[in-house]
Amino acid sequence: MRPFVFVNVAMSADGKISTAERRQVRISGDDDYSRVDRVKAESDAIMVGIGTVLSDNPSLTVKSPHLRAWRREAGKDEDPIRVVVDSRGRTPPDADILHKGTGKRIIAVSRTASPEAVNVLRGYATVVVTGDETVDLLALLEELYHLGVRRLMVEGGGTLIWALMELGLVDELQTFVGNIVIGGKDAPTPVDGTGFLREEDFPRLTLIEASRLDDGLLLRWRVERER
Ligand SMILES: NC(=O)c1ccc[n+]([C@@H]2O[C@H](COP(=O)([O-])OP(=O)(O)OC[C@H]3O[C@@H](n4cnc5c(N)ncnc54)[C@H](OP(=O)(O)O)[C@@H]3O)[C@@H](O)[C@H]2O)c1
Repeated sequence: MRPFVFVNVAMSADGKISTAERRQVRISGDDDYSRVDRVKAESDAIMVGIGTVLSDNPSLTVKSPHLRAWRREAGKDEDPIRVVVDSRGRTPPDADILHKGTGKRIIAVSRTASPEAVNVLRGYATVVVTGDETVDLLALLEELYHLGVRRLMVEGGGTLIWALMELGLVDELQTFVGNIVIGGKDAPTPVDGTGFLREEDFPRLTLIEASRLDDGLLLRWRVERER
């Protein structure tokens, strides 16, 4: 058993999620920012790859005091469990995700992570070891389910989203398309990695929602299971 997995990303009108230098840019407007805060508050856990931690240093906390109070009153931590997928245990000990906000942090490493790195991270987070080279994502999702996670939000980046898509582990894609053009053939996109090479392997999507938000568009797609 695994949680329901949805991906949430903001991309420019030309389909980029940051600059070619992997510098974070503001793509969402205020309304999308509030929407993301709400879907975060409604999630049991929120996951990112180590690439995103190293380039953006996100805290992934719920920002609205009202939503934090709502979670508290429901008997939950004010922030969802925050999960970093980090084979080699490269999460910096001073990363915001380990220090800002409340609640559990999980660093998922593979067996390539050095015992020293794991020991340091254990001072700040629960360390889950799974997979030989990279993190075994299915085993990690099963472990999260075991810990009570039923709804998992994946915030990127493109390498982690690709790996989850390739394994058929994404149930829904939520994409905010913002009113800027970033450009650059090397700028990250929502789904990077090697990409699907055969048409019959492309995941098929069903549009659930297309609505105007800020000066952009919110798209929600269900990922169909059969390929
Ligand atoms: N606009 C948005 O909504 C948004 C959101 C998030 C991020 N971003 C952007 O995305 C960029 C970062 O994305 P990224 O693609 O470089 O990094 P990423 O997807 O955040 O992290 C990828 C890393 O995760 C680790 N990993 C461990 N096990 C894995 C597995 N089984 N499959 C895949 N990866 C695994 C790998 O590093 P190790 O092997 O070293 O562990 C891999 O390089 C930044 O520029 C950031 O600004 C944008």
